[in-house]
Amino acid sequence: MVRALVFVFLVSAAIAVLAFDRPATKPSLQTQPFGTHNGKAITLYTLTNSHGVEVRAMNYGGIIVSIRVPDRNGQLADVVLGHETLEGYIPNPPYLGAIVGRYANRIANGTFTLDGKTYTLPKNDGPNTLHGGTTRTFDRVVWDGEALKNGVAFTYLSKDGEEGFPGNLRIKVTYTLTEANELMVDYEATTDKATPINVSQHSYFNLAGEGNGDILNHEIMINADRFTPVDKNLIPTGELRPVKGTPLDFTTPTRIGARIDDKYEQLVLGHGYDHNFVINSKPNQNGMKLAARVHEPTSGRSLEVWTTQPGVQFYTGNFLDGSVVGKQGHIYKRRYGFCLETQHFPDSPNHPDFPTTILKPGETFREKTVFKFEAK
Ligand code: GLA
Repeated sequence: MVRALVFVFLVSAAIAVLAFDRPATKPSLQTQPFGTHNGKAITLYTLTNSHGVEVRAMNYGGIIVSIRVPDRNGQLADVVLGHETLEGYIPNPPYLGAIVGRYANRIANGTFTLDGKTYTLPKNDGPNTLHGGTTRTFDRVVWDGEALKNGVAFTYLSKDGEEGFPGNLRIKVTYTLTEANELMVDYEATTDKATPINVSQHSYFNLAGEGNGDILNHEIMINADRFTPVDKNLIPTGELRPVKGTPLDFTTPTRIGARIDDKYEQLVLGHGYDHNFVINSKPNQNGMKLAARVHEPTSGRSLEVWTTQPGVQFYTGNFLDGSVVGKQGHIYKRRYGFCLETQHFPDSPNHPDFPTTILKPGETFREKTVFKFEAK
């Protein structure tokens, strides 16, 4: 009798241990040291799910280092441009994979006025400030990383006056991988003085695999009836122009390369696509709007981008010039990657008619973008 009880006890204990040992739910997270920067430890966080999807990100610049997703035959490929080591990202002129801010995209003449005070920012793009300035910008500072069950949270305190911006801005960016092959990017920020804020994820995608040629054969649908045309410095003129009848009409799926070199003034100014599209505002029940859907016919891989943001900058890697040597020695040439940078409109602090980018003390900035991968 006692023996039987002990036996039953041992069996149930073994079952309990086994059940406990098995990961309760996929996805999961692993961490590994990835070097140091300015004496601070950099950690690489690897998120995986049960479909073999794997996302790697690090606390230097909040950079997404790799995204491995299956093609229609289950073959995995890394679909973002980047580097194998931390050193490869220092410097990172194209902002490969990085979080950009405090103000993503351009601020005209590096200046804006807020509550009667004029602020001057460092210029790094002709007369403009691009992606937050020159030195302590979000793409090149060390964030604090916190491992979560199926994701990672990066936090950073951007100090009052840093890169010319007012207020101590506390920002948190969370990457989460789901079983539905979605990479969710959640942004949250607070400030102690009113400040403009515009943050975005600057991954360059090539759904055929990074380094595997240009992206001109990808087909893209952008859910936008209007875009913000730019002047010669790529600053919005203020107009919201219908895409209809222009080479920026992607309301039905179209090859990226079909019209990219048309002599349309906006494409000439952008050297291709480098434009903010006004996302059609019909959110689903979760408050998310479809920004774009991209399909790569050879691999069958596709990417959907959903967001709470009002705009998406579609950039076709026009400034990649072969000077960046990336993963596996791949040379990243012109148009080898495309970006879908969900964000507020460029230069909003100087355009009172655009949706506001001013965050005030007591408010919480919250935005969300989802990158969803499929293959068929
Ligand atoms: C954004 C800009 C582009 C370019 C890239 C980075 O997409 O709009 O013009 O600066 O970032 O090179």
